[in-house]
Amino acid sequence: MRLFVSIISTRAETVYCICIVETSDPVAKLAVKAVKLTKTYGSKVAVDELDMEVKSGEIFGLLGPNGAGKTTTGGMITTRVLPTSGQVYVGGVDVVKHPAEAKLEIGVVPQSNTLDRSLNVIQNLYFHGRYFGMSRKQSKQVALDLLERFKLADRQSLPVSALSGGMAQRLMVARAIMHTPAVLVLDEPTSGLDPQSRLALWDILQELNSDGQSVLLTTHNMEEADGLCDRIAIMDHGKILALGSSAELKRDLGGTSSLVMKVSGDVRQLIQKLMVEISTDSMTKIVPSDDGLKIVGHDVAQLISIAVTSAEALSLKVYDLSLVEPSLETVFINLTGRELRD
Ligand SMILES: Nc1ncnc2c1ncn2[C@@H]1O[C@H](COP(=O)(O)OP(=O)(O)O)[C@@H](O)[C@H]1O
Ligand SMILES: [Mg+2]
Repeated sequence: MRLFVSIISTRAETVYCICIVETSDPVAKLAVKAVKLTKTYGSKVAVDELDMEVKSGEIFGLLGPNGAGKTTTGGMITTRVLPTSGQVYVGGVDVVKHPAEAKLEIGVVPQSNTLDRSLNVIQNLYFHGRYFGMSRKQSKQVALDLLERFKLADRQSLPVSALSGGMAQRLMVARAIMHTPAVLVLDEPTSGLDPQSRLALWDILQELNSDGQSVLLTTHNMEEADGLCDRIAIMDHGKILALGSSAELKRDLGGTSSLVMKVSGDVRQLIQKLMVEISTDSMTKIVPSDDGLKIVGHDVAQLISIAVTSAEALSLKVYDLSLVEPSLETVFINLTGRELRD
């Protein structure tokens, strides 16, 4: 936003005209913007001319196999890794040119536990607040509020070594958002957590996001990306291979769904009839099973009525019918291949 004051002088009076102009600076409206962001280690290109935008208010997932370049990308966004070339902005601030200013816009939850072991639970928050310019009173109050919110209030005086993995993770998220950053960046936040702690963390991230917090997380967990992220970038060999909502990726990138039908009677006859009724192309196929058949292809939901009417026309009884949606895993494997990574 820009403020302009113009003075219009007439013979009789002077008029002050104040105009507030909403600038259309696209970078300022984004939580994160990377432009041709590159990091090389010797001959190894870890991140390769990456263009990426995280919109304000979204949960954005960087999904990729080991070695894809996720942590390096997160490192460049959060000032930890200096880019070889390209630009990166957080909350409109150029991270390379103004790292101190950028840090105010970034909340980081790293992969390993970086809590200060010489401080207790509340001190870990309190001193973070103080480093980020909060007054003693404000930092204490925000720390207490966050401990309450993240169900750690009863542990505030414990050493951080007494916390379980899930609690330590919650405290790191609390610490990361203390200074109200433009974006919360988490690197593989749930790897190594037990199922309960993982679900609790997902709840916390969703709650923070519904309060407007922009989130960027890296993960190789399909379920995490699928369930949590508004948009997902599938990354490998330092590049983004595909970008979209989970539904878009599944729809556009070879994700197939299947219609599983259990019938009593002569299944072969039904398959023959369906081969005629349904225009099976290379992408749609009908596979017999012990107690029925499976139609595999794109958008097989639209084939439900034709499948049922065909069975009825042959006097076969349909006793079960289920639609299996495409999985993000199919899309991921289609894009990144099946070979094992380190
Ligand atoms: N400090 C480093 N020195 C040399 N190579 C590195 C360094 N950090 C990362 N790499 C390499 O860059 C590539 C991407 O690594 P990384 O960003 O950690 O991937 P991810 O987080 O997706 O597993 C890998 O091949 C890794 O070995
Ligand atoms: Mg990593």
